[in-house]
Amino acid sequence: MHDSLLLFGATGDLAQRYLFPSLLHLLRDRLLPENFRVVAIGRTEHDDDGFRAWLRERIGDGDARNGALDDLLGRIHYHPLNLNDIDGMAATLSRYADRPAVSYLSTPPNLFESACLGLKAAGLLEPPSRLVLEKPIGHDLPSAREIDATLKSALDESRIFRIDHYLGKAPVQNLLALRFGNTLLEAVWDNRCIESVDILVAETAGVDGREGYYADYGALRDMVQNHMLQLLALVAMEPPAALDADSVRDEKRKVLRALRPMTPVDAANDSVRGRYGPGVVEGSAAKGFTADSAVETFVGLRAWIDNWRWAGVPFRLVTGKRLPSRTTEVLVNFKPVTHWVFERPDSRSATPNRLRMRLQPEETIELGLMGSLAAPEWGATELMPMSLDMAMLPPKRRIAYERLMIDALKGDQTLFVRDDEVEAQWRWIDSISAAWQQAGTPVQEYPAGSWGPAAAAEFLPRTVSSRAGRRG
Ligand code: BG6
Repeated sequence: MHDSLLLFGATGDLAQRYLFPSLLHLLRDRLLPENFRVVAIGRTEHDDDGFRAWLRERIGDGDARNGALDDLLGRIHYHPLNLNDIDGMAATLSRYADRPAVSYLSTPPNLFESACLGLKAAGLLEPPSRLVLEKPIGHDLPSAREIDATLKSALDESRIFRIDHYLGKAPVQNLLALRFGNTLLEAVWDNRCIESVDILVAETAGVDGREGYYADYGALRDMVQNHMLQLLALVAMEPPAALDADSVRDEKRKVLRALRPMTPVDAANDSVRGRYGPGVVEGSAAKGFTADSAVETFVGLRAWIDNWRWAGVPFRLVTGKRLPSRTTEVLVNFKPVTHWVFERPDSRSATPNRLRMRLQPEETIELGLMGSLAAPEWGATELMPMSLDMAMLPPKRRIAYERLMIDALKGDQTLFVRDDEVEAQWRWIDSISAAWQQAGTPVQEYPAGSWGPAAAAEFLPRTVSSRAGRRG
């Protein structure tokens, strides 16, 4: 396990909210090596003590009592650096090339290339050192390829760790466990039994403080290109021969490559874009999002996977900001039984089976069945929908980044995204943004706190569309 971490973007939002708290928890739980050190790099001027005081104010919590915070702060050195200054980076950071390191770029993608060259010049990308990159990798396929070419000039794929923090979430990993640990599910997991799949990532949060980035990216690039496509890949991939990094990623890549590109004609049927206006979210008034660019904070898509297993099965992907509740879930909607023999309800009111895997905020698995167990004996053939519910109560809920940091320090790439997956993801996303542009797909306003624009209703899973129907 490597014991030297260089963290770029150390004064940024992600570092404060997740990366340093993750390190704190890992240290508290004694999961980091004895000589672990952090070299923090940011734009703001601080010396070591100044940065430590700044960080203490932001992440100090109950952990301070058991000394973990002091322990963490004592291991941190801080350097203010301009990442466009390759020579400056080399001069400052070469002293840390004394041990194999993991350099983590939690910076905007336009700094990836110069940071990578600076690290190389400092001797920090020599084997077995590694490089971790936050999403987004570029803005489209050409820019992603350009970044990748620079990375590859400094180190090979086996040492590049592209983060999609959804893969670090235990409930997301549980999708693999459920699918490939259960004969029952795998036997019905295709277009013969499944009618459609819904993947919903709803947030109550808004763009809040990231207006500049968002105006450039929108929900399609910020959420669908990575998190939602990774969820789709985990639901739709073929069983891997083993759980090692390449076996899993080979199968995900095949699914991502089988996504049917969107054409301008499809755009009208298979997509909807929205942007929140003023409204009320969870009882509080919320302002609308304004941007000069035609950018969306809500997307609904119908994706088609052109392969044997999934031909004809729509995957509806919906994500949005300032929606009524924070919910991440995957719903697998099964086909109705082929022949209905019951008098009541009549076949039209029968509810087909549905598997609902809720990933956030709580983790539950719910299997919707038809049964008559609750009926009196003379009504035993009168069916009603019922569900088998299971609440998963993990012993300890960890921040997704905790798992990913440990894996990067150990060198396990299974939960990181490979170059060809990123390319396949961008290829599909680029087809959508080109289709939108050519078709002039409008960005429709929705009130903050609602389930998106009216046209989104047909994309929403049944679990929310009945509630959305009540929208004022
Ligand atoms: C990030 C996006 O990658 O994921 C954010 O940039 C989004 O816009 C966030 O809010 C959602 O992550 P989570 O873990 O809160 O579901």
